[in-house]
Amino acid sequence: DPRQGVIQAWYMDDSDEDQRLPHHKEPKQFVTLKHLDDLGVLSWRLDADNYETDGELKKIREARGYSYMDFCEVCPEKLPNYDEKIKHFFEEHLHTDEEIRYCVAGSGYFDVRDRDDKWIRIWVKKGAMIVLPAGIYHRFTLDSDNYIKAMRLFVGDPVWTPHNRPNDDLAARKAYLANFVNNGTYYNQDLYTIQTILPKDNVIPARYYVKEAAPAPKALKGDEMLKGIFLDVKKKFETALGVLRQEKITIAPEDPAAVQQYANVMKTVREKADLFSESQRIQYTIQTRTQNIQDARTYLLTLKEIRLKRGLSDELGAEAMMFDALDKVEKQLKKPLMRNDNQGMSLLMAEFDKINKKLGINPNDLPKYEEQLELKIAKAQLEELKKETTEAMETQAKKEEFQDEQMVDPKSLDIRNFI
Ligand SMILES: [Fe+2]
Repeated sequence: DPRQGVIQAWYMDDSDEDQRLPHHKEPKQFVTLKHLDDLGVLSWRLDADNYETDGELKKIREARGYSYMDFCEVCPEKLPNYDEKIKHFFEEHLHTDEEIRYCVAGSGYFDVRDRDDKWIRIWVKKGAMIVLPAGIYHRFTLDSDNYIKAMRLFVGDPVWTPHNRPNDDLAARKAYLANFVNNGTYYNQDLYTIQTILPKDNVIPARYYVKEAAPAPKALKGDEMLKGIFLDVKKKFETALGVLRQEKITIAPEDPAAVQQYANVMKTVREKADLFSESQRIQYTIQTRTQNIQDARTYLLTLKEIRLKRGLSDELGAEAMMFDALDKVEKQLKKPLMRNDNQGMSLLMAEFDKINKKLGINPNDLPKYEEQLELKIAKAQLEELKKETTEAMETQAKKEEFQDEQMVDPKSLDIRNFI
């Protein structure tokens, strides 16, 4: 593992000697990187000489939404109030967000508590990037070289507030315990990402409550299968939230760029979470809703209903033309057209081909139409979102206690704050 060259971890002894010393146990008791992973402490080895152009760093920042970045140099000459700060760093604390540090020069110790509340000392050197999860008790100290330069990263606007121990009522702490300490199953990195993108202080994973609920009833036949299905759905849902938490969506249906961005985000959500695209979903809806319909007219009416429910407009007027075509065929047949009437249906299809030609619709361009459809749907969804937010704000404005507050433009809202 290339990380081993720049990150080492071990259990600490109990001595009160200088905090800058390694504090190994006797004999030394090293901790594997896997063990750190299991505690939610993630790490990478990166090219610290080229952090400005490093594609790998860029990828990590994109994947984990680390939009904010600055540097922090810790040494007596560079850090104002050095002594006081150093003391603070070494006080055991937690944060409600991840602590992300990339050591680009020098070295230092991050101490974290393990599941049994024992101190693990993590020595990071140039090239090591580590993420301490929200809610983990930890502290920092320089080593005897007395120097580190670290890149600090953050999702959105940074919050560096340390909450000194004890601070066990914070949701971030509860979530950490629920996910990494108590239940014995540890999230992998991907799931962990989702954990950290959940709302800051007000949401506790359902699992935290589940743990305290009554013992589960004896497993029934098929439970395992059901569990599998639920876990699959949960994973998809969490993956989707993960994407949404990272991407900026602007509620501006009138702005083509915003619509395109929204459509792109939704596409990423679908690809990552393995979900249907809107057009696939419409196809699926059409299939399930129409499979028992016998006659062509009810079939077309159902298509229209689905279209309207989706908020889609028919700018080309294709629908009216399709009904005209059906009228024409039925007049010819002198009876209602049934869908199992192959001959009648081929007449209708021939009429539909004519319509397509007239409107300049080429079946080979289907992927293009699908893309246009996705954009149209994206626009409709943004419009709906705008309507809903505006309505919610209007309702709020009517309440007395909010009367002095100004209504904001939905455009200025950042959905990521609410996920
Ligand atoms: Fe910290």
